[in-house]
Amino acid sequence: MNVVTRHCVIVATVLSLLHGAVRAAEMNGPMSSTKKPDAAATSATETAPSAASNATFDVEKLFASTCGWCHSGGGREAGKGPKLMGTTLTDDEIVRRIMLGKPGAMPAFAGTFNGDQLTAIIKYIRELKPEGTPK
Ligand code: HEC
Repeated sequence: MNVVTRHCVIVATVLSLLHGAVRAAEMNGPMSSTKKPDAAATSATETAPSAASNATFDVEKLFASTCGWCHSGGGREAGKGPKLMGTTLTDDEIVRRIMLGKPGAMPAFAGTFNGDQLTAIIKYIRELKPEGTPK
């Protein structure tokens, strides 16, 4: 690579970085310091991710990124999928729904979560409270 091409590469890299920063600023608007980007929105195109290790497993984050784009409000509201808060399903039925999904409605997550993670997800759904309720 000669000096001129290398220079071009550097300029292009800097320009794309700047462009990214400007775009981020535009998207967040003037109140950006108080607003975090929506984790659920950025992973909306992902399908079932491979099993996460327990060390990094955070059920709230997982729900927001994997389930939240259909089960809105962290599962508190109906969205593309039904509200999960206060579900009348048994633990077994919840596990079955998560593992098998529902063709055309909800992806199957068999192989995505281990037993501990499924238990954590059920616990999370059971403990959902309306937004703003003191813990
Ligand atoms: C692509 C959208 C989508 C995603 C992603 C999704 N779901 Fe669903 N889910 C649905 C739909 C739609 C239904 C209703 C299916 C039916 O008709 O029974 C549903 C139903 C359920 C039910 C049964 C609720 C009830 O009371 O019948 C549970 C529990 C559930 N989902 C949990 C999850 C969990 C946990 C995740 C993340 C690991 C997840 N879902 C991801 C769309 C989705």
